[in-house]
Amino acid sequence: MSENIRVAIDGPSGAGKSTLARSVAARLNFLYVDTGAIYRTIGYAVWRKGIDPRDRSAVVAVLPDLEICLTYGTDGLQHMELNGMDVTAEIRLPEVSRYASLVSAYPEVRAYLLEMQRQLARENSVVMDGRDIGTCVLPEADVKVYLTASSLVRARRRYRELTEKGITCDLKEIEQDILDRDHRDMHREHSPLVQAEDAVYLDSSDMTL
Ligand code: DC
Repeated sequence: MSENIRVAIDGPSGAGKSTLARSVAARLNFLYVDTGAIYRTIGYAVWRKGIDPRDRSAVVAVLPDLEICLTYGTDGLQHMELNGMDVTAEIRLPEVSRYASLVSAYPEVRAYLLEMQRQLARENSVVMDGRDIGTCVLPEADVKVYLTASSLVRARRRYRELTEKGITCDLKEIEQDILDRDHRDMHREHSPLVQAEDAVYLDSSDMTL
């Protein structure tokens, strides 16, 4: 059995997973792995290439051309590289969120990323956040948390994040986008977002960090 400790935090977008995971990882000196960023990198590549994310065979055909690297900067933060280019900022664009959610439904995309995620957990003690970490990527994780919050609270948090970055946005639109993504992520056929049976359920709607 590996001596590394694996903490899995799953839940819908905007529940506070990354904020929580990052701070737990820093405190425990574990590696923080944001798996959504990896799916976003594929979504970004598909978007940049002008491929329709609903065209499964076109998306799958592009995978062999992608070299995806996860690096940790001097700031200790996870950076994503796509074919040698740092795309850490670009993958946060709202349009990329939609592309990431769409392409992540394809089993070929999930299979392509599965080993990369498991490898990180074999080599390091990790706090990994995503949608299927406790159910699929690390079913033997030592600690599993299912973190959620109401869609309105999540939309408000996203709204604040975006406006702080100077991005103009609309709260209602953000909430609708969150609901659409929840629906897609929870109802897809492969590795949908569900609470693992042995995960601790945590509703952060009325909680601060
Ligand atoms: O966590 P996030 O919002 O950055 O994730 C972007 C998309 O990636 C999300 O809509 C679903 C997908 N995703 C996934 O399918 N599995 C994961 N483990 C993480 C993210």
